[in-house]
Amino acid sequence: MIKEEKINGTKNLKERKKKAESNSQDSIKSQLTPSEIVVELDKYIIGQSNAKKSVAIALRNRWRRQQVKDNMKDEIMPNNIIMIGPTGVGKTEIARRISRLANAPFIKVEASKFTEVGYVGRDVESMIRELTDLSVNIVKNERMKEVRIKAEENTDERILDILLPPLKKSGNGTSTGTSGEHQNPELSPAEVNARTREKLKAQLKSGALDKRMIELDLSADNIPMLQVLGPIGLEEMGINLNDIFGNMMPKKQKKRKLSIAEARKVLVHEESSKLIDMDAVIKDAVEKVQNSGIVFIDEIDKVAGSSHAKSGNPDVSREGVQRDLLPIVEGSTVITKYGPVKSDHILFIASGAFHISKPSDLIPELQGRFPIRVELNSLGEDDFYKILTQPQNALIKQYKALLKSENIDLDFSEDAIKEIARIAAEVNEQVENIGARRLHTILTTVLEEILFEVPDKLKKSKVTIDKKYVTEKLDSIVKNRDLSRYIL
Ligand SMILES: Nc1ncnc2c1ncn2[C@@H]1O[C@H](COP(=O)(O)OP(=O)(O)OP(=O)(O)O)[C@@H](O)[C@H]1O
Ligand SMILES: [Mg+2]
Repeated sequence: MIKEEKINGTKNLKERKKKAESNSQDSIKSQLTPSEIVVELDKYIIGQSNAKKSVAIALRNRWRRQQVKDNMKDEIMPNNIIMIGPTGVGKTEIARRISRLANAPFIKVEASKFTEVGYVGRDVESMIRELTDLSVNIVKNERMKEVRIKAEENTDERILDILLPPLKKSGNGTSTGTSGEHQNPELSPAEVNARTREKLKAQLKSGALDKRMIELDLSADNIPMLQVLGPIGLEEMGINLNDIFGNMMPKKQKKRKLSIAEARKVLVHEESSKLIDMDAVIKDAVEKVQNSGIVFIDEIDKVAGSSHAKSGNPDVSREGVQRDLLPIVEGSTVITKYGPVKSDHILFIASGAFHISKPSDLIPELQGRFPIRVELNSLGEDDFYKILTQPQNALIKQYKALLKSENIDLDFSEDAIKEIARIAAEVNEQVENIGARRLHTILTTVLEEILFEVPDKLKKSKVTIDKKYVTEKLDSIVKNRDLSRYIL
């Protein structure tokens, strides 16, 4: 007895160590120093160094806070940020990139989509629920990856059981289920069965049986449920019908015919779900949201009541949304279907163009909750040139990769890229400044013909875009203001 306990004890210790190790690996990722974060951001975003710095500091501060001892830790508030800048200059892009760097649950919401509690529309608490759902999915997928090998083994066994049902021992010792005994008198039926199973297993693993059809008993979870909920329904309130009825009703089993390859996918999912401890997943996920969640609130300026309101009566609904936002940003507890989630240490990044209204038009309490303000610059010709060529996901690289799939090398001459950047800046100035988004529309216009004619009409292995080609494609449109308004 004592010995056994000891073994269990050491086993637990080992497991705990392992867990601690994987946790520390997790935090290494988010341990990037502020300057390292900026270096990472530089790979994707051109310029905007002030915004990058602020965001990097906020992120690092959050990690710093986690290192602080208990009492003080709860006192330290996140550095919520407002990013101010014209459209298409990288606000959303910066927020999206840092969420990946921090390996943190991240959602983007539009402030203008929310309405006051009691009105038709989304209530602000839904963003915390959504973030929690996301976090649960992230953690669940991580856990499922960890048990993948075991789940695959179980799946193979289940498929083998279907292909070759296990022997049933009947009362008088004779067995059913195989006819092997006549061909091979020395082997017992059980041995024959075991050998056949080994053979089948090898075939199964090699994929030789992938196309064979089998019949499966699937639990109802794997059968897509009819989506009966409207745009705002019970789901929004954190109530999940499946959860309620799924537990009340006996688990339904349904027979389905699938190829082994398909069946494997379904079964691996089912087996992994069985192997993970959902309660632990939820606990970790909620913790992850509370300590490292990021909510990006776009278009915050649209709910800032303008001080120039002509009508005389203040815009009730806008201010109402701000008032609803306040407790969430200040820190409150939101009830989700995974239990209560505290929003105190979630990082909020708000952004807006603030053309008409100003940050000072927000209600003072809300302003106070976003202590850091950064301005992003509007982008010019030189920035566009860099955006086209430098980022890891630069547009030109994207199109090159697209055409590579048709075995075509797409090339841009230096002056062609410069010309595209120049025209983008020109159109932005003359028509409407939509920032780097202009590059998308211009580049698709330049490349449209090529993209259409490949692969059947244009049979070349190399296409080079030079300045002349760019001018040809764009000049007439740029010169005609009305046309460029629609096309570029
Ligand atoms: N500084 C930049 N460097 C690289 N790419 C950029 C930059 N700014 C914008 N882009 C590109 O332009 C597109 C739009 O940018 P983004 O979504 O960040 O705009 P935004 O500032 O959030 O604008 P809005 O106020 O309209 O939401 C993105 O696809 C992004 O890749
Ligand atoms: Mg945006």
